Amino acid sequence: MADRTNYPDFNSVGPGTPTGMFLRRFWQPIYESARLKAGRCMPVRVLNEDFTLYRGQSGAAFLVDARCAHRGARLSIGRVDGDNIACMYHGWTYDGSGQCVAQPPEQRSFAQSVKVRSWPVREYVGFVFAYLGEGEPPPFPRVLAAEGEGLLDARESRRPYPFFSQLENSVDEVHFNFTHRRSTFTDVGLNEEIPEIDCEETEYGIIRLGKRSDATRVSHILMPNCLYSKVHDELLGWTEHFSWRVPIDDETHSSFVARKSFLVGDQVAEYQRKKDEAKALLATLESPEAVTERILRGELHLDELPHRPDQVMIQDLVVLKSQGSRPAREKDLLGASDKQIRMLRQIYARELAAQAAGKPMKQWRIPPELETSTGLST
Ligand code: FES
Ligand SMILES: [Fe+2]
Repeated sequence: MADRTNYPDFNSVGPGTPTGMFLRRFWQPIYESARLKAGRCMPVRVLNEDFTLYRGQSGAAFLVDARCAHRGARLSIGRVDGDNIACMYHGWTYDGSGQCVAQPPEQRSFAQSVKVRSWPVREYVGFVFAYLGEGEPPPFPRVLAAEGEGLLDARESRRPYPFFSQLENSVDEVHFNFTHRRSTFTDVGLNEEIPEIDCEETEYGIIRLGKRSDATRVSHILMPNCLYSKVHDELLGWTEHFSWRVPIDDETHSSFVARKSFLVGDQVAEYQRKKDEAKALLATLESPEAVTERILRGELHLDELPHRPDQVMIQDLVVLKSQGSRPAREKDLLGASDKQIRMLRQIYARELAAQAAGKPMKQWRIPPELETSTGLST
């Protein structure tokens, strides 16, 4: 079962790279909606490219070029004026489409002939999404399980390794039994028995099966980079869990995680209280990055790490960072338990080959009514 396939480079994601061009064909989350206040602009780096994201006074979000067309000052240090953004250097002002609408120092304005680039944005499940590709964007990927009643928790966290390593981890249910051997996964029976892994390619990506003797866990990869599964959380219980792995650059990425819980009424207030407690506790602890570095240097073992609210995340951080900043996948020896990883790599390789040859690529379609299952009676 050794896999000596010479896979394409899935780590390089800048403009013009095969994987970068592929990911730009889809809507991608780029920022937490709640962190983008009206009247503020922010620098964002996505897919090895810099942008300026701002929210106008009307509440609408806009994404435009990183730099001003005049003399290259960064627009993210500019000033939001209504739904426009004005450069801090000499006040050239752009609307949300990137059109220059004012050049205050110029007695004869030539603003109508000046335009910076802009990209379509849309807000969904607590994130600002952008379409960074060419031409018309594809249909927006909605999943009803993320909408409607219930508590939605959306957050971005930055990870110091390539997006594809995290994406492969998303389809690696076997690692629960090893990496997360000491974790809350024990409470819900996800790390006792090594599951039998199965999968199939679908119209939206991959349906993933983790078969245990009394339950089959069903989850999905929504192409190209989102895991949709049911995940158990200490405070939230079972959640509908969506995690997009979006490259910041070739060696780091952001995980955009939207969790829809089934808490109602008083349970929500109780959750907020416990969440604030956990946050206060985490503020007193060594940072996950510092702990990870100590473990990688051999000064601490993962099994010695006392329980903490971000334990599962640290466990993943340690093993994924240990794979290196540019994993050489052709050296891997895949077994039957890597079936989903092989499928993911093969789909990417196939689509990148079609893209390079100018051949038709698969048109992915997410059925909005898609569901997951823990297979458990809880
Ligand atoms: S650099 Fe932006 S207005 Fe001059
Ligand atoms: Fe994990």
